[in-house]
Amino acid sequence: MAAPDRRGWPLELGPADIEALAGAVAARLAAFEAGRAEAPTTDMEGLGPLLAAAAAPPPEAGRPLEDLLDLVMAGAAKGFDTGGPGFMAYVPSGGIVSSAVAEMLALGLNRYTGIAAAAPVLAGIEAGVIDWCAGLFGLPGPSRGVLVSGGSIANLTATVTARTRRLGDDLAGARLYVSAQGHHSVAKAARVAGLPRDAVRLVPVDRALRMDPDALAAMVAEDRRAGLRPFMAVGTCGTTNTGALDPLPEIAAICRGAGLWLHVDAAYGGFFRLTERGRARTGGVEAADSITLDPHKGLLLPYGTGCVLVRDGDALRDAHRMDATYLQDLTDLGGVPDFADHSAELSREFRGLRAWLPLHLHGVAAFRAVLDESLDLAGHVHDALAQVPGLEVPWRPELSAVGFRVRTDAGVADPDAAGARLLARINASRRVFLSSTVIGGRYTLRVCLLVHRTHRDRVDEAVGIIRDAARAELGARAGVG
Ligand SMILES: Cc1ncc(COP(=O)(O)O)c(C=O)c1O
Repeated sequence: MAAPDRRGWPLELGPADIEALAGAVAARLAAFEAGRAEAPTTDMEGLGPLLAAAAAPPPEAGRPLEDLLDLVMAGAAKGFDTGGPGFMAYVPSGGIVSSAVAEMLALGLNRYTGIAAAAPVLAGIEAGVIDWCAGLFGLPGPSRGVLVSGGSIANLTATVTARTRRLGDDLAGARLYVSAQGHHSVAKAARVAGLPRDAVRLVPVDRALRMDPDALAAMVAEDRRAGLRPFMAVGTCGTTNTGALDPLPEIAAICRGAGLWLHVDAAYGGFFRLTERGRARTGGVEAADSITLDPHKGLLLPYGTGCVLVRDGDALRDAHRMDATYLQDLTDLGGVPDFADHSAELSREFRGLRAWLPLHLHGVAAFRAVLDESLDLAGHVHDALAQVPGLEVPWRPELSAVGFRVRTDAGVADPDAAGARLLARINASRRVFLSSTVIGGRYTLRVCLLVHRTHRDRVDEAVGIIRDAARAELGARAGVG
């Protein structure tokens, strides 16, 4: 149903206005979703007029809704769609529509969930999602968690908690360990948490790009001998580059022995735990003192949903709780946590609904199926690319990311430069969108599968595009498979 061409909608909308407004948006969303499969994976043309229109200040009197939606939808078609079926770059965010609809309701209700007493049942909905997440990793009852805006803030929240528990107010000589393949948000968290740059020590990785636990143990011992204060190690459950899984049981044993806080960054890999294969491969996460999850990755939710879990819930609370006289009327409900006491936010949006509604509406099996499919597709991509002359696929994927590169014996003078040209050719297809990284000093392309709209047909098409691009770039010289 198209909204009537009205200007200056009142701020206080009546039922018919609400339905017209939401209906017009829903119609646009439905059309966008229907067109996603055939839309180009990237489009940067004609940005100028759209950027100018986007920058226009709001008018004194309102403008027609359809004009505004026209601009938004034209804008949404630019750049790259990180939830489209051809998007296999970075770590995708599928963005299921049921979650967006839940979010509309959550924002429409606009209930305050920082303090449970303000909306006990809605806060309870959010707490239920967090408890379910904690249960996936076998965290005990006293654990607590909070939904935050993403993995970076989850890593920050965990770092602040570990810092408070293990270092108190004296940060001198603090040392935090993360593998050289860890996500940069860990170092950023350390910086924002007030630690100096040299507090972060990068632990070398093995050939499979997993943290070398012997190197970790040696670095911790060396730092202790030097009078420094190792306090935290971060293991990664699914590195961004290749989905490598750090050896968490070994790392946990080292942390126990040395009194370090073990944080596991499971932003990418955590929800693979829902699958049988993922559960088998991610053993050891349950030993963590704190865990980062990113529902806007592995649970396919729209951007803006991260999660941090802390085994000792009091540690999370002690690190974040402050008293304020102007909040003295708000009573502690007991049972339902006050999220404002467990994170840096006081006012916060009601993030629980965007996770709770899809989980209950579709059921957990629907999410498990997508993650299983992503694992299958990644294995298929690995095997298919291993057959492409001139390319090598050095790491069998443990999750859904596959790294590949131009072989040094592919017959080109500069294999890394050829890799960069290969990426440009592939992305120029506008049917598949990949990204690159550098691993062990080598330019490496990545395929990362984590969108529920991506299936075998698009993956086969992507492999064909990569094969054709490799043939065009490397030519007949790339005779080696
Ligand atoms: C392993 C890992 N940790 C943390 C992050 C940061 O998460 P966010 O982008 O949600 O802040 C990412 C993002 O890709 C990641 O892959």
